[in-house]
Amino acid sequence: MRPKIAAGNWKMNGTAAALSELDALSRALPENPPQVVICPPSPLLFRATDAVHGCPIQIGAQDCHAEASGAHTGDISATMIADTGATHVILGHSERRDAYRETDADVRAKAQAAWGAGLTAIICIGESDAQREAGETLQVIGAQLDGSLPDGATAENTVIAYEPIWAIGTGKVPSIAQITEVHDFIRERLAARFGAEISDALPLLYGGSVKAANAAEIFAVENVDGALVGGASLKADDFAPILTALAQS
Ligand code: 13P
Repeated sequence: MRPKIAAGNWKMNGTAAALSELDALSRALPENPPQVVICPPSPLLFRATDAVHGCPIQIGAQDCHAEASGAHTGDISATMIADTGATHVILGHSERRDAYRETDADVRAKAQAAWGAGLTAIICIGESDAQREAGETLQVIGAQLDGSLPDGATAENTVIAYEPIWAIGTGKVPSIAQITEVHDFIRERLAARFGAEISDALPLLYGGSVKAANAAEIFAVENVDGALVGGASLKADDFAPILTALAQS
């Protein structure tokens, strides 16, 4: 049985006042909650891990540098993230691949660093609108998966998030058939490289315009083990119904 995981990516949203949402979320967790990971901006990491102390919400960061320390102004290392009490780090989000030209090789190096610090890497992959229109989706996903994942991926150190770029923050969601096709493909690709046992255990999340209204049908897809949620993770009132849908899936 794979764990069900709902991860919230707050992106560059939230100051200390937003920590009250963690408290509200902890009170709104469904019975038998899925694994919940909230990834706030890095200045909030220490306070966020304090805020969820004693409740089953985990904290993650949104990126890390591949080096443990050094002259990298403005960056934070996986070791620093782990030091805050966070357990996860999102890597290779399309916004970073786009804005900072992060390559698959960069993501792979960051994943190694994350594992070295004891963090679970949430590795994001996803095709653009143009790539889907050109019929290149599976080719793109396969290449990103191969290039971004180091050898040694396991269900303990890695979560994969499939986030079609055209579905992020747009309100557009792929059809259930499209989500099924890509998630089945990812599972098979992982099995070919890491073996069926690891592939079967590794959680695959869908991300891109997940809302309370569409969560249940997405979570009904066999190879969808949860979601990476942006906008709808910022408020406990919006995120809690998604957690309930996942718990009931
Ligand atoms: P939205 O849920 O706002 O579409 O964002 C998805 C995302 O990018 C999560 O990482």
